Amino acid sequence: MKLENRKILLGITGGIAAYKSAELVRQLQKSGAEVRVVMTQSAQEFVQPLTYQALSGHPVYTDIFDGEVDSAMDHIELARWCDLMVVAPASADFLAKLNAGYADNLLLTLCLANKHPLAVAPAMNQQMYANAATRENITRLKSRAVLVWGPAHGEQACGDIGPGRMLEAQQIAHRVERLFEPGKLDGLSLLLTAGPTREAIDPVRYISNHSSGKMGYALADAAIAAGADVTLVSGPVALDSPPGLELVRVESAEEMYQAVMPRAPKADLFIACAAVSDYRVEQSQPHKIKKSSESITLTLTPNQDILAAVSALENRPFCVGFAAETQDLENNARAKLERKKLDLIAANQVGDVSGGFNADQNQLEVFWSDGQQSLSMASKADIAIQLIDLIASRYTDARS
Ligand code: C5P
Repeated sequence: MKLENRKILLGITGGIAAYKSAELVRQLQKSGAEVRVVMTQSAQEFVQPLTYQALSGHPVYTDIFDGEVDSAMDHIELARWCDLMVVAPASADFLAKLNAGYADNLLLTLCLANKHPLAVAPAMNQQMYANAATRENITRLKSRAVLVWGPAHGEQACGDIGPGRMLEAQQIAHRVERLFEPGKLDGLSLLLTAGPTREAIDPVRYISNHSSGKMGYALADAAIAAGADVTLVSGPVALDSPPGLELVRVESAEEMYQAVMPRAPKADLFIACAAVSDYRVEQSQPHKIKKSSESITLTLTPNQDILAAVSALENRPFCVGFAAETQDLENNARAKLERKKLDLIAANQVGDVSGGFNADQNQLEVFWSDGQQSLSMASKADIAIQLIDLIASRYTDARS
């Protein structure tokens, strides 16, 4: 049983989806977990605590000062007891208070006292979910490593259609199970480059490219979820730092090289996802270049190839490169795999097709010396999970 001996504290807040959590208790128990339930005052307006007491086989906790329910389990003990806290449904009000650090009811107090993972399954009207305040609360909770599961899109109790439905019990139980599965990159360290670089022309101008960093950041997220210890060397991007990693911010290819090289020999895996400028301006000007009617010439000099330099190290990590190609994808990608002595290369067609630079979706053709696999068009988050899975299998094969 996937959740054997796992202790899960289930928080229920006020919402029509509160009844769905009865099924969640059963699903978690079926997988072997011991479940204890905490309900807020408004949750009890929707479902009787007695329902959850009968299902969980334990008293239902509702009040910070209610020592009589279970004298051995005060709020600190309950938080210590669990391996995971799941709040389902999580109302807009609860998410706002959790974000602000309130502790004016038992469930919020437990969330503050808890040092184990915390997952929330939002459930609310689609307009409330779309509200800027709710979006901001969710973004900030994610940045503090709170796992946000859902919501799903669909018909709501109020008749609206949109995002805001709580995930089904089965889906939440499945995510709980996945959380306790050993990660495919457990105990491994991953060095990752992402984003573009900027090559200065003068103090205000630079040469760069359209890379958004989205693919690299999605890979960082997926690698963390797979248990890796991640260092992300990132060029300038408009993305928030994923929680739970070391982030090194750089501007130029030279800075990226300087950040990567001392770290590479200690890494088990290196993924070069950055779109590094191939050239820099030979002599960037110390002062802003003045406009004139004359043409000017910039002399460009090649940058070091960071990926090739890492793969040439004596004590080299498992090396993964990216290739953005406009034509003859396989031949060009395989040539790069050989030239840079890589273990694996992920190629995508750019130019006339969707996906790739700046898009939210991507599709990849992955090549290694004696194999290949297609990852068909999906969100960059999904593609990243599949690619990390593939990298983990290839790494294990190569090392065994
Ligand atoms: O040769 P090309 O630039 O197409 O190779 C792309 C791959 O090499 C990407 O993985 C990119 O991150 C990496 N690269 C690098 N340093 C460079 C140029 C490319 O690490 N200067």
